[in-house]
Amino acid sequence: MKLDKNYWESRWTEGQTGWDTRSATEPIKHYFDQIADKQAKILIPGCGNAHEAIYLFESGFKNVYICDWAEQPLETFSERIPDFPKAQLLCADFFNLETGDFDFIVEQTFFCALDPKLRSAYAQKVKSMLKKGGKLVGLLFNFPLTEAGPPFGGSKEEYLQYFESLFESVRIEPCYNSIKPRLGSELFILIS
Ligand SMILES: C[S@@+](CC[C@H](N)C(=O)[O-])C[C@H]1O[C@@H](n2cnc3c(N)ncnc32)[C@H](O)[C@@H]1O
Repeated sequence: MKLDKNYWESRWTEGQTGWDTRSATEPIKHYFDQIADKQAKILIPGCGNAHEAIYLFESGFKNVYICDWAEQPLETFSERIPDFPKAQLLCADFFNLETGDFDFIVEQTFFCALDPKLRSAYAQKVKSMLKKGGKLVGLLFNFPLTEAGPPFGGSKEEYLQYFESLFESVRIEPCYNSIKPRLGSELFILIS
């Protein structure tokens, strides 16, 4: 199966969006509730309906960028949050974004949606999009990686291989405050 733009556009037009949690998830809310710097520049790649962006924007973080190559979720987002700056809606392939200077990149069911062959490229792209000391924060699944997906699983040991050679600090821990259906199958990551 080719997980290209057409594949994801079809998922959106057919309403096959079972990953959608309908609101920002607790681990991400909890993390950003502790961040005082509301000027922080934040990117959410593979954002879908971008519930985290709504939460952040309404919490005072105005420098939030969202990226998805499917048009439908970004159009819906723009209608829901008309005040959100249009220049911060990036309808693009994450891997083609220009190098960035983000303080944070938020991971929420984007990595697991990618072809697993792209995992090293994802880690490198994230690194190139963060400013020095910037952080990748969010969630990765913790269940065996098989041919079946998306979502594709993985383990802490596997994920360490992608990030440890590129980043100074790699924290990957079982997530204690996952949403109920994902409890026990998520890892919280904080990588800088
Ligand atoms: C499983 S969904 C997750 C959406 C959202 N993060 C959430 O948790 O609700 C994955 C999203 O990534 C987008 N996507 C996949 N590959 C992409 C790429 N290379 N660049 C940008 N968006 C991509 C898809 O269009 C889809 O909306």
